[in-house]
Amino acid sequence: MKEIRVFCPASVANVSCGFDLMGFALEAIGDEMIVRKTNQTGVKIKHIEGYDLPYEAENNVAGKAALAMLEKLQTQEGIEIEIYKNIHPGSGIGSSSASASGLVYAINELFDRPFSEKELIEFGMEGEYVASKSYHADNVAPALIGGIVFIRGYQPLDYFKIPVPNDLYCTIISPQITVKTLDARRVLKSKVHFKDAITQCGNLGGLISGFYTSDYSLISSSLTDVLVEPQRAPLIPHFHDLKKQGTENGALGVGISGSGPSVFALSKGKENAEKVAKAFENIYQNTNIDFKIYVSPINMEGSRVIK
Ligand code: HSE
Repeated sequence: MKEIRVFCPASVANVSCGFDLMGFALEAIGDEMIVRKTNQTGVKIKHIEGYDLPYEAENNVAGKAALAMLEKLQTQEGIEIEIYKNIHPGSGIGSSSASASGLVYAINELFDRPFSEKELIEFGMEGEYVASKSYHADNVAPALIGGIVFIRGYQPLDYFKIPVPNDLYCTIISPQITVKTLDARRVLKSKVHFKDAITQCGNLGGLISGFYTSDYSLISSSLTDVLVEPQRAPLIPHFHDLKKQGTENGALGVGISGSGPSVFALSKGKENAEKVAKAFENIYQNTNIDFKIYVSPINMEGSRVIK
């Protein structure tokens, strides 16, 4: 195989109470990439469409992940990449992770699958580091393997997939403005109150259990973030309105998607998710901020080959 075309999905990280620990992939939006094996050593980014991003492999999230992979392979062959971006960088729905995950997935396929799933996630995290100066996998892992992924620990990386309730839908509003993950991490205090840590652990346990048992009421009561959301909400225009209107219009819960500025809601059923989308739209259409709205089931496959 010399050339491959892949779809790499957007994703929602944190899922309210799972900061750096939980994420899920989306079906309705993602990037595409064409990756070719060449006889020339190294990583060449030949074309980027959609948004302005660095062409130097070292400074590009996908390029950096690819360099780490090729180095490990100790191959004289190289790769050439065309990136077709639909996901706004810095929008909070895993733009950098989609590129990194899609590329590591594609390279693994082109080189006859030398790496395990876990190794691919680790390579993807190398890319994520370029964008955020932090190693976390809550976007990379779901963008690569799909579904809802929980990362139990990072040293060593330990993760598992959580069953996805049948009727679970996500609504995303994505203001077309940029909040850099690096900046959104800088606003976070390094210490938390003991009482808040306990509340957060309770919610996280409840959310995982709710997903396992398709208990929508438990999902709803657990989708609360007392640690990070209060600190990041000021970075997101109209966050509190979105949360109030989303919840009043049937969402199980509303939270910041990744490090923002996108905001997500989970709902039971597509009809409810669309009602939430309408409520989100009503708030943003009265502003001068461009935005996009998606209603999506959870993407169960992650990065995949397309024709
Ligand atoms: N968990 C990360 C954060 C996701 O919220 O900073 C964004 O990359």
